Amino acid sequence: MTAQPESKLITLEEFIIQSQSKFPGAKGELSQLLRDIGLAAKIISREVNKAGITNILGYDGTKNVHGESVKKLDLFADQQLISALERSGITSMVISEENDGIVKLSCEGGKYIVYMDPLDGSSNIDVNVSIGSIFSIYMRDGDFDKPAKDAEALQPGNRQVAAGYVLYGSSTTLAYTTGAGVSLFTLDPSLGEFMLSDRRVEIPKHGRIYSINEGSYNSWDLGLKKYIKYCQEEDPETGRPYSARYIGSMVADIHRTLIKGGIFIYPHSKNYPEGKLRLMYECNPLGFIIEQAGGMATDGKIRVMDIEPNAIHQRTPIYIGSPENVEHVMDFLHEYEGQVG
Ligand code: AHG
Ligand code: MN
Ligand code: MN
Repeated sequence: MTAQPESKLITLEEFIIQSQSKFPGAKGELSQLLRDIGLAAKIISREVNKAGITNILGYDGTKNVHGESVKKLDLFADQQLISALERSGITSMVISEENDGIVKLSCEGGKYIVYMDPLDGSSNIDVNVSIGSIFSIYMRDGDFDKPAKDAEALQPGNRQVAAGYVLYGSSTTLAYTTGAGVSLFTLDPSLGEFMLSDRRVEIPKHGRIYSINEGSYNSWDLGLKKYIKYCQEEDPETGRPYSARYIGSMVADIHRTLIKGGIFIYPHSKNYPEGKLRLMYECNPLGFIIEQAGGMATDGKIRVMDIEPNAIHQRTPIYIGSPENVEHVMDFLHEYEGQVG
C-alpha cells in the first residue's frame, strides 16, 4: 500500500470550506455547528481517553431523567456540547438525554434545534469499551425573530438537516451527513485534527452479522425469534450461520454495521414495551446516517424517520442496517404478526 501524499490529507475544517463553496448560497451556519461539535468531540475524546487515570471516572451518585445511573463523563460530555452550541449563537434549543426539559440557549431566536445523546453506551465506560456521542440537527419552522417555542422541537426525523455521531473507539471517528451521503473523519491525536477518511461511505447491501441483546429472547415477538433462528441455521449457500456481535453501545454497533453490513435490532419487549432506545437522539440520527449510506431503519412497521414524535424523550423499537437484512426481518415480522410462541 502506498502512503497518501501529505497534500491529499483533508482536515474537517478544509472539508467544511470545500463543501460550503459548492453551495454559494450557503450561509455557513451549519458548518459552524459542525465545527463546534467537532471541537467539543475532541475535548470529550481527550477526557474519555484519560478517564481511567483521573477521578472523573465513575458514578456521580445521581440518576438521569430515565432513572439510570449517570456517570461523570455523561455530564462532562453534556456540558461540553451545550457550551459549544451556546458559543456559536445559532442554536436556540438543545434537547439532551441528560436533561429532563428543553435547554434554552441565550440565542433564543436561533434557527437551529439540536438533539443529542452526549455519551452513548456509558455503562461501558468502566470496562474500557467503545462509547460515543450522537447529534441530530433541525431547523425551526417558526419566525426566527421570535423566541423558539417548545412545540417547534417535535419534528419527525425526515426533517433533520444534519446528523452524526462520534465514536470513541480504538480511534475516534466522526460520521456526518447533511443528506448528501455520509462522510467519515478520524481524529489524528498527534495533530489534534479530524482527517477525512471516507468522503462517501456505503453500507454493504447485505451482511452476515446480527446484533441484538439475545438475553431478552423469551420476551420477543414470534417473528423476531424465527428470524434470529434463521440467522443461526447452517446453510453454506446463503453464508449461514451469521455471526453475532453485540457491544452494548449503539454508536459502536451501528458503526460496525455501517462498515461491515448486517443488522442491529433493539425490539420492544416485556421490559421495554416501546423499545429502549430513544427516537429523537438515538434512532433518528443513526437512521439518517444509515439511510444516507444506502441502508434502512424501521420500527418494525414504518420508517423510523417518518414517526411523528409526541415527546422529546420517546422510545421506539428499531431494526436498522443493510437493506436486504432489514427487508428480510420485516418479512418474518409480517408473516408471524400476532402469533405467540
Ligand atoms: P445510554 O448509555 O446513552 O443510556 O445508551 C445505552 C443504550 C445503547 O447504547 C445500547 O445499544 C443499549 O443501551 C444497550 O442496552 P441493553 O443493555 O439493554 O442491551
Ligand atoms: Mn444512548
Ligand atoms: Mn447517553
